[in-house]
Amino acid sequence: MSANTISINSQMSHFDSHDSVWLFGYGSIIFKADFPFLERRPAHINGWARRFWQGSHDHRGTVEAPGRVVTLVPQEGAVCAGIAYLITPEVFAHLDHREKNGYLRLVTEIHFGEAEKAEGLIYIASEENTAFAGPASELDIARQIARAAGPSGRNSEYLLLLAQALRELGSDDAHVFEIEKHLLQLEREAAAR
Ligand code: BEZ
Repeated sequence: MSANTISINSQMSHFDSHDSVWLFGYGSIIFKADFPFLERRPAHINGWARRFWQGSHDHRGTVEAPGRVVTLVPQEGAVCAGIAYLITPEVFAHLDHREKNGYLRLVTEIHFGEAEKAEGLIYIASEENTAFAGPASELDIARQIARAAGPSGRNSEYLLLLAQALRELGSDDAHVFEIEKHLLQLEREAAAR
Protein backbone atom coordinates (compact mmCIF):
# COMPACT_ATOMS: atom_id res chain seq x y z
CA MET A 1 0.00 0.00 0.00
CA SER A 2 1.21 3.48 -0.90
CA ALA A 3 2.14 5.64 2.07
CA ASN A 4 -0.28 8.33 0.85
CA THR A 5 -3.69 7.39 2.27
CA ILE A 6 -5.70 10.58 1.57
CA SER A 7 -7.79 9.16 -1.29
CA ILE A 8 -8.52 5.85 0.52
CA ASN A 9 -9.67 7.67 3.66
CA SER A 10 -11.87 10.14 1.75
CA GLN A 11 -13.88 7.18 0.35
CA MET A 12 -15.05 6.05 3.78
CA SER A 13 -18.80 6.64 4.01
CA HIS A 14 -19.60 4.93 7.34
CA PHE A 15 -20.45 8.18 9.18
CA ASP A 16 -21.81 10.12 6.17
CA SER A 17 -25.21 10.74 7.75
CA HIS A 18 -23.72 11.86 11.10
CA ASP A 19 -23.38 15.49 12.25
CA SER A 20 -20.58 14.56 14.61
CA VAL A 21 -18.26 11.59 15.14
CA TRP A 22 -16.05 10.46 18.02
CA LEU A 23 -12.36 10.22 17.14
CA PHE A 24 -10.11 8.30 19.54
CA GLY A 25 -6.68 9.91 19.90
CA TYR A 26 -3.78 7.84 21.19
CA GLY A 27 -0.75 9.75 19.90
CA SER A 28 0.05 13.39 19.26
CA ILE A 29 -3.56 14.47 19.38
CA ILE A 30 -3.63 13.60 23.08
CA PHE A 31 -1.33 16.54 23.75
CA LYS A 32 -1.94 18.69 20.67
CA ALA A 33 -5.37 18.95 19.03
CA ASP A 34 -4.84 21.31 16.09
CA PHE A 35 -8.46 21.08 14.97
CA PRO A 36 -11.83 22.28 16.28
CA PHE A 37 -13.83 19.88 18.44
CA LEU A 38 -17.19 19.87 20.21
CA GLU A 39 -16.16 17.80 23.21
CA ARG A 40 -13.04 16.12 24.62
CA ARG A 41 -13.14 13.14 27.02
CA PRO A 42 -10.66 10.61 28.45
CA ALA A 43 -11.45 7.25 26.87
CA HIS A 44 -10.04 3.83 26.07
CA ILE A 45 -10.29 1.18 23.41
CA ASN A 46 -9.93 -2.57 23.90
CA GLY A 47 -7.79 -5.03 21.94
CA TRP A 48 -5.22 -2.52 20.71
CA ALA A 49 -1.71 -1.70 21.97
CA ARG A 50 0.12 1.60 21.32
CA ARG A 51 3.51 1.02 19.68
CA PHE A 52 6.28 3.27 18.31
CA TRP A 53 6.29 1.23 15.11
CA GLN A 54 5.38 3.79 12.46
CA GLY A 55 8.17 5.60 10.60
CA SER A 56 7.91 9.38 10.28
CA HIS A 57 9.70 11.13 7.46
CA ASP A 58 7.27 14.05 7.16
CA HIS A 59 6.64 15.18 10.77
CA ARG A 60 9.24 13.99 13.29
CA GLY A 61 11.97 12.86 10.94
CA THR A 62 13.18 13.07 7.36
CA VAL A 63 13.53 10.61 4.48
CA GLU A 64 17.25 10.33 5.29
CA ALA A 65 16.71 9.93 9.06
CA PRO A 66 13.11 8.85 9.73
CA GLY A 67 11.71 9.23 13.22
CA ARG A 68 9.22 6.94 14.92
CA VAL A 69 5.67 7.76 15.99
CA VAL A 70 2.91 5.65 17.45
CA THR A 71 0.41 3.40 15.77
CA LEU A 72 -1.92 0.75 17.16
CA VAL A 73 -1.41 -2.98 16.81
CA PRO A 74 -4.04 -5.61 17.61
CA GLN A 75 -3.33 -7.42 20.89
CA GLU A 76 -5.75 -9.61 22.78
CA GLY A 77 -6.58 -8.24 26.23
CA ALA A 78 -4.80 -4.92 25.66
CA VAL A 79 -6.39 -1.66 26.76
CA CYS A 80 -5.21 1.58 25.17
CA ALA A 81 -5.97 4.81 27.02
CA GLY A 82 -6.29 8.11 25.19
CA ILE A 83 -8.55 11.06 24.55
CA ALA A 84 -11.73 11.00 22.46
CA TYR A 85 -12.74 14.10 20.52
CA LEU A 86 -16.24 14.71 19.19
CA ILE A 87 -15.67 16.33 15.81
CA THR A 88 -17.65 17.32 12.74
CA PRO A 89 -17.05 15.39 9.48
CA GLU A 90 -15.18 18.33 7.86
CA VAL A 91 -12.36 17.87 10.36
CA PHE A 92 -11.52 14.52 8.77
CA ALA A 93 -10.22 16.21 5.61
CA HIS A 94 -7.69 18.05 7.78
CA LEU A 95 -6.70 14.86 9.64
CA ASP A 96 -6.50 12.80 6.44
CA HIS A 97 -4.02 15.35 5.11
CA ARG A 98 -2.03 15.63 8.34
CA GLU A 99 -1.81 11.86 8.71
CA LYS A 100 -1.36 11.03 5.02
CA ASN A 101 1.83 9.08 5.70
CA GLY A 102 0.15 5.66 6.04
CA TYR A 103 -2.73 6.12 8.52
CA LEU A 104 -6.12 4.66 7.60
CA ARG A 105 -9.43 5.30 9.31
CA LEU A 106 -11.04 2.35 11.09
CA VAL A 107 -14.39 2.13 12.87
CA THR A 108 -14.13 0.98 16.48
CA GLU A 109 -15.90 0.99 19.83
CA ILE A 110 -14.71 3.77 22.15
CA HIS A 111 -15.26 3.38 25.90
CA PHE A 112 -15.80 6.19 28.41
CA GLY A 113 -15.19 4.61 31.80
CA GLU A 114 -16.79 1.23 32.45
CA ALA A 115 -20.42 1.95 31.59
CA GLU A 116 -20.53 4.15 28.50
CA LYS A 117 -19.43 3.52 24.93
CA ALA A 118 -19.89 4.87 21.41
CA GLU A 119 -18.93 3.87 17.90
CA GLY A 120 -16.16 6.07 16.55
CA LEU A 121 -12.97 6.18 14.55
CA ILE A 122 -9.29 5.54 15.01
CA TYR A 123 -6.47 6.12 12.54
CA ILE A 124 -4.06 3.22 12.35
CA ALA A 125 -0.90 2.64 10.34
CA SER A 126 -0.70 -1.10 9.69
CA GLU A 127 2.27 -3.16 8.55
CA GLU A 128 1.06 -2.92 4.94
CA ASN A 129 1.96 0.76 4.69
CA THR A 130 5.34 1.59 3.22
CA ALA A 131 6.34 3.84 6.13
CA PHE A 132 5.82 1.06 8.70
CA ALA A 133 9.02 0.68 10.75
CA GLY A 134 7.94 -2.38 12.75
CA PRO A 135 9.07 -3.84 16.05
CA ALA A 136 12.45 -3.10 17.62
CA SER A 137 13.74 -3.11 21.18
CA GLU A 138 12.75 -0.12 23.34
CA LEU A 139 16.45 0.86 23.50
CA ASP A 140 16.85 0.84 19.71
CA ILE A 141 13.63 2.82 19.33
CA ALA A 142 14.94 5.39 21.83
CA ARG A 143 18.25 5.62 19.91
CA GLN A 144 16.38 6.30 16.65
CA ILE A 145 14.10 8.87 18.32
CA ALA A 146 17.10 10.64 19.90
CA ARG A 147 18.60 11.28 16.45
CA ALA A 148 15.47 12.29 14.52
CA ALA A 149 13.85 15.67 13.86
CA GLY A 150 11.50 16.92 11.15
CA PRO A 151 9.16 19.78 10.18
CA SER A 152 7.01 19.24 13.30
CA GLY A 153 10.01 19.30 15.64
CA ARG A 154 12.30 16.89 17.44
CA ASN A 155 11.16 13.27 17.69
CA SER A 156 12.23 13.30 21.37
CA GLU A 157 9.79 16.14 22.07
CA TYR A 158 6.94 14.01 20.67
CA LEU A 159 7.91 11.08 22.92
CA LEU A 160 8.30 13.20 26.06
CA LEU A 161 5.02 15.09 25.55
CA LEU A 162 3.18 11.81 24.91
CA ALA A 163 4.66 10.18 28.03
CA GLN A 164 3.73 13.22 30.14
CA ALA A 165 0.17 13.26 28.76
CA LEU A 166 -0.25 9.53 29.46
CA ARG A 167 0.98 10.04 33.02
CA GLU A 168 -1.59 12.79 33.47
CA LEU A 169 -4.26 10.39 32.17
CA GLY A 170 -3.17 7.78 34.73
CA SER A 171 -2.21 5.35 31.96
CA ASP A 172 0.55 2.87 32.76
CA ASP A 173 1.97 2.36 29.26
CA ALA A 174 5.07 0.21 29.80
CA HIS A 175 6.25 0.45 26.16
CA VAL A 176 6.17 4.27 26.06
CA PHE A 177 7.65 4.71 29.55
CA GLU A 178 10.49 2.26 28.82
CA ILE A 179 11.43 4.19 25.65
CA GLU A 180 11.23 7.45 27.62
CA LYS A 181 13.57 6.02 30.29
CA HIS A 182 16.15 5.03 27.65
CA LEU A 183 15.88 8.36 25.86
CA LEU A 184 16.48 10.34 29.06
CA GLN A 185 19.53 8.15 29.80
CA LEU A 186 20.88 8.69 26.25
CA GLU A 187 20.41 12.45 26.68
CA ARG A 188 22.24 12.38 30.04
CA GLU A 189 25.12 10.46 28.43
CA ALA A 190 25.29 12.90 25.50
CA ALA A 191 25.33 15.90 27.88
CA ALA A 192 28.20 14.35 29.90
CA ARG A 193 30.42 13.93 26.83
C1 BEZ B 1 -3.42 10.27 17.29
O1 BEZ B 1 -4.11 9.61 18.01
O2 BEZ B 1 -2.63 11.05 17.73
C2 BEZ B 1 -3.56 10.11 15.83
C3 BEZ B 1 -4.63 10.67 15.20
C4 BEZ B 1 -4.74 10.55 13.84
C5 BEZ B 1 -3.78 9.84 13.16
C6 BEZ B 1 -2.72 9.28 13.82
C7 BEZ B 1 -2.62 9.40 15.18
